[in-house]
Amino acid sequence: MKNISIIVAIGQDFEIGKDNQLLWHISDDLKRFKRITSNHMVIMGRNTYLSLPKRPLPNRINVVITDNKEEKFEDCVTVYSIEEAIDAAHATDENFIIGGAMVYKQFMAHANKLYLTRVHQNFDADAFFPKINFGEWDLIEQEDYQAGDKCKYPFSYMTYTRKS
Ligand SMILES: NC(=O)c1ccc[n+]([C@@H]2O[C@H](COP(=O)([O-])OP(=O)(O)OC[C@H]3O[C@@H](n4cnc5c(N)ncnc54)[C@H](OP(=O)(O)O)[C@@H]3O)[C@@H](O)[C@H]2O)c1
Repeated sequence: MKNISIIVAIGQDFEIGKDNQLLWHISDDLKRFKRITSNHMVIMGRNTYLSLPKRPLPNRINVVITDNKEEKFEDCVTVYSIEEAIDAAHATDENFIIGGAMVYKQFMAHANKLYLTRVHQNFDADAFFPKINFGEWDLIEQEDYQAGDKCKYPFSYMTYTRKS
């Protein structure tokens, strides 16, 4: 089985986005995302790819999933199904699923690690992360931050691995 990790920032109700944008700006979280995913493969849906302010994400192999066989994203690996994305994933290295809602849902069953940023606040949203059965996961790391310098909302970094 390939090493598939999901990395996502979710609100209190598992909300992740609205109008194809994120719901908050937490620069510490963006730096952490860059640190964790750099030099790895990042796999995403077309909408998430188009939402990136700078694309493709530098220093990472960007894999973009679309149904449109005519589409080819420049300097990316373009794939046309989840299976093709899994085939494209590196055999031994950690591969990151970076969104969005549609893609997270399809990869939940394939992932063995979850990097969650939990923002402890509700937001108006139109895109949501799927429900997580926490019984299937072991929490291996947690860092909590109060509202303040890093972010105007309290938030936590929580890392889980799938129970064997
Ligand atoms: N909070 C976070 O951490 C986070 C992270 C990432 C994204 N987001 C947010 O999530 C939202 C976007 O989510 P989304 O669900 O709209 O879009 P998405 O998952 O990024 O992309 C959906 C698109 O991917 C393609 N796709 C998905 N599954 C496919 C399959 N099995 N076969 C072929 N193509 C497939 C389709 O593209 P075609 O239409 O071209 O066929 C589909 O329309 C945005 O608001 C974004 O800001 C949040």
